[in-house]
Amino acid sequence: MKRNQQDTPLFDALQQFTKRSPTSFHVPGHKNGELFPDFAREFYQSILPVDLTELPGLDDLHAPQDVIKEAQELAADFFGVEQTHFLVGGSTAGNIAMVLGACNAGDEIIVQRNSHKSVFNGLELSGARPIFIAPEFDAAVDRYTAPDINTLKKALKQHPDVKAVMLTYPDYFGQTFALKEMIGLAHEYNIPVLVDEAHGVHFSTHRAFPVSSLEFGADAVVQSAHKMAPAMTMGSFLHVNTAHIANNRITHYLQMLQSSSPSYPIMASLDLARWFLANLKTADIEAVLNSVRQVKEILQAGPWQIPLTDDPLKITLHMEEGLCAREAAGFFENIGIYPELATHNQILLIHGLTPFRNVKQLKKGMARITEQLKNTRNRATIDLRNLFTNPIEKLAMPYGMMQHQQTKQILLEQSAGCITAEAIVPYPPGVPFVLRGERITESHISMIKQLIQQGATIQHHDIIRGISVFK
Ligand SMILES: Cc1ncc(COP(=O)(O)O)c(C=O)c1O
Repeated sequence: MKRNQQDTPLFDALQQFTKRSPTSFHVPGHKNGELFPDFAREFYQSILPVDLTELPGLDDLHAPQDVIKEAQELAADFFGVEQTHFLVGGSTAGNIAMVLGACNAGDEIIVQRNSHKSVFNGLELSGARPIFIAPEFDAAVDRYTAPDINTLKKALKQHPDVKAVMLTYPDYFGQTFALKEMIGLAHEYNIPVLVDEAHGVHFSTHRAFPVSSLEFGADAVVQSAHKMAPAMTMGSFLHVNTAHIANNRITHYLQMLQSSSPSYPIMASLDLARWFLANLKTADIEAVLNSVRQVKEILQAGPWQIPLTDDPLKITLHMEEGLCAREAAGFFENIGIYPELATHNQILLIHGLTPFRNVKQLKKGMARITEQLKNTRNRATIDLRNLFTNPIEKLAMPYGMMQHQQTKQILLEQSAGCITAEAIVPYPPGVPFVLRGERITESHISMIKQLIQQGATIQHHDIIRGISVFK
């Protein structure tokens, strides 16, 4: 049955519930917004009344029968999948549930090495044995992108009994790759493909965007609705689209991983984000694309190139030789314009699914930033080509073994050759440089030091003081 994509059942139910001016003898403790610190009330006052809980008519995420079920079915209908789960723990929860749903302890799974850290956390929790396939270093964009199909081919030949293949599509910068062929290849072996499409929730709306992995036949797909669609932070979708993935296992793990008090504002925003995507018109998309062109024209004035990206909403500023992108990003921030992320040589700006409004501010800012960059002395380079060297690799220490090993703290400088007991993750983008269970090399150490020198944020409690390695 085709559904009416104008409907927003969960949002409507929340709205109607608040209209009754209900009296709260239940959680949450802010009592529909009645109790809140006065100095912050103004900020929160419109959202607190809809920050409700599993009350009559509002259904239950962990046993959906009513409006949440309807809202999830509307999403499944729009994305053309069998089942959509609403996530209130971001794609992080989705990736972990997907991996746990596909693998038992000791099972092998082929995993793209430059995945988000949540994928590795899922692997560790499952006790699976990952076979990592390395991404290619694409000189044209000066970044690691995706694995070559031949690497997957080889990995599948060597490990035909893997339980799944886990890929990330697109990358953070909106770059895609031959996913259709890779899915076809895995399916020849009857192996399901799980896709982290955190950055591609808008792909199902229009041909102006790359084709979604769902259309290519991916078996399970996670999308951060909050990244590219107007959903609240942490709002994501997990789509299950074949019988090759046991939906009941995913449901089981989601109820373990997600709160038993999931946020209604987040869930209703997923209902609304689906509504927004489903009702976007070609004219809306054209207006957005025009705006992207206009923004790029303004940005052309800077000391960088703007390469074409598969996803037009991702605008990459590739700095002229040696200029430090992190410093340049700081100049943007100084004038109140906040990029998504900066590496040593690239700044990523994410254009919304709506025309950009602050054209004047950007134009004015560009003149200032360009001038500041002329005088900058901090010319940074870092060669990351040696980060992922082995096309197909296992962990030096399997997850199952780590639990029984003792660890010790040593200085990073002295860690070459040791197996690390903790991941080192530059953030963003959240792709671990070194994974828990990987052997640290001299080139890791030199790259990590350069990153620290250049002011990158590293998610590690205190890498300057030392790193924990297995004894
Ligand atoms: C590729 C990728 N996957 C997953 C995630 C996690 O998504 P979320 O923030 O929705 O938990 C991110 C976050 O940046 C990401 O970049």
